[in-house]
Amino acid sequence: MRIAVLGTGYVGLVSAACFAQGGHRVTCVDIDEAKVAMLCRGDVPIYEPELEKLIADGRRRKRLYFVSDSAAAVTGADIVFIAVGTPTRASDGHADLLQVYTAVESLVPFLKAGAVVVTKSTVPVGTGDTIEHLIGNVRPELDFEVASNPEFLRAGRAVQDFLRPDRVVIGAQSDLAATGLMKLYCSVGIEQERILLTDRRSSELIKYAANGFLATKIAYINEIAELCEKVDARIGDVTKGIGLDERIGARYLQPGPGFGGSCFPKDARALAKMGEDHEAPMRIIETVLASNEARKRSMARKVAAACNGALRGKTIAILGLTFKADTDDMRDAVSIPLAQALNDAGSILKAYDPVANGRARDVLPSGVQYCSSAAEAANGADAIVIATEWQEFAEMDFRKLRAMVRAPVIIDLRNFLSEEEIKRSGFSYYGIGGPRRHAFETVSPRLVSTRPFYAKAGKMTDSNNLLLQRLAAAE
Ligand SMILES: NC(=O)c1ccc[n+]([C@@H]2O[C@H](COP(=O)([O-])OP(=O)(O)OC[C@H]3O[C@@H](n4cnc5c(N)ncnc54)[C@H](O)[C@@H]3O)[C@@H](O)[C@H]2O)c1
Repeated sequence: MRIAVLGTGYVGLVSAACFAQGGHRVTCVDIDEAKVAMLCRGDVPIYEPELEKLIADGRRRKRLYFVSDSAAAVTGADIVFIAVGTPTRASDGHADLLQVYTAVESLVPFLKAGAVVVTKSTVPVGTGDTIEHLIGNVRPELDFEVASNPEFLRAGRAVQDFLRPDRVVIGAQSDLAATGLMKLYCSVGIEQERILLTDRRSSELIKYAANGFLATKIAYINEIAELCEKVDARIGDVTKGIGLDERIGARYLQPGPGFGGSCFPKDARALAKMGEDHEAPMRIIETVLASNEARKRSMARKVAAACNGALRGKTIAILGLTFKADTDDMRDAVSIPLAQALNDAGSILKAYDPVANGRARDVLPSGVQYCSSAAEAANGADAIVIATEWQEFAEMDFRKLRAMVRAPVIIDLRNFLSEEEIKRSGFSYYGIGGPRRHAFETVSPRLVSTRPFYAKAGKMTDSNNLLLQRLAAAE
């Protein structure tokens, strides 16, 4: 097939490279000429594992092209994907569809008869209808289709997620568009059983409903983590205890500093606005958003508490600036409000990210000093804050680090370092949600009943013994 992709961001580039690998001829358009020039030189403007190789492969096989005008890409295309940004509209919190409608305007004159225009961007319900009207108004004689195909890939695992998705959702208004898109996905190795066909509006809503649900799960476990700290419980055991329930599932139950990134915050905001518009209030999502904002703000207080309440004049090393590991995406990253709050409190900030120091400069306070390694950032620090769970931070030599810092304090906002190792190296360790160690380290993670649990448990407290006796008596 001949495919055009409008927008060469995280979604557009990954989709284009994967479709090209499936043997299709894909032309990408972006209004950012510098980005297009980079891609034409063989450079990749974003950090995403495996993507560089896939793009190089597509270019070498002459299946993947980058241009800056829509005419060259859309003319003759069977399918035109719209993969431009849909950020939050600053004035009111709705999804800003300016990029989408500008992209539609640019493609209309070149659309061939029978072409399918597909929104891969996350767009509010009804956007497909509007696009259909826009195109129909300009080209009333044209036979075309508008479909929805929201993208669920995760930054940092985008290529894997695209090629091995849990599901592909296709929202179409005709069999023709649905089968065309289904064939396209099957051609890149995705099993037909993984493809969900639905109408366009349901498809548009599926994306928001999914992201809203995941954001809810994260906000919920963060509140539970906060409660763990107050009542002296262990979040690790609590998440395991609820995650083993198949109705709940263990994923997205990792407590942290609050969700960020290019999708969850803006999609949750847009979902709340959609609910408002249609008089179907999204009260849960509204609360999730408020909870997450409070969570992000409270992270600076955690750092202050670890520094005996005093931040003024203290040197704080922030390790990891992106919204999560394995991406260079800084959108809505927790490091931004954290650095702002620490800066406002008079701290001296040193920061290091394995891939995003450059991008961070545009969004972090101007006084931040950027370092070329974690060790350089930690040198002379009064506290080290792990804000993103990059693997290289877990592999640091903490004993060496101990000799370099002014005060041995580590605040692990991702609960991902080894608390024992950190403490053995002479640091004080502050994680999230109470003690990190499980109450019984010998307990099997796959418990089936209480009996083997107590049989395998290493050390037992009096209350455990009492419970065992009661259980034995009950049997
Ligand atoms: N980033 C993710 O992990 C992710 C995951 C799933 C879905 N999404 C959704 O996919 C969409 C794209 O997200 P992204 O992160 O790839 O965005 P992005 O901001 O990284 O990229 C968008 C690209 O579109 C280009 N663009 C803007 N207007 C254009 C136009 N008229 N013609 C051609 N190009 C144009 C921009 O220059 C930019 O390069 C969004 O709706 C987002 O919500 C993103």
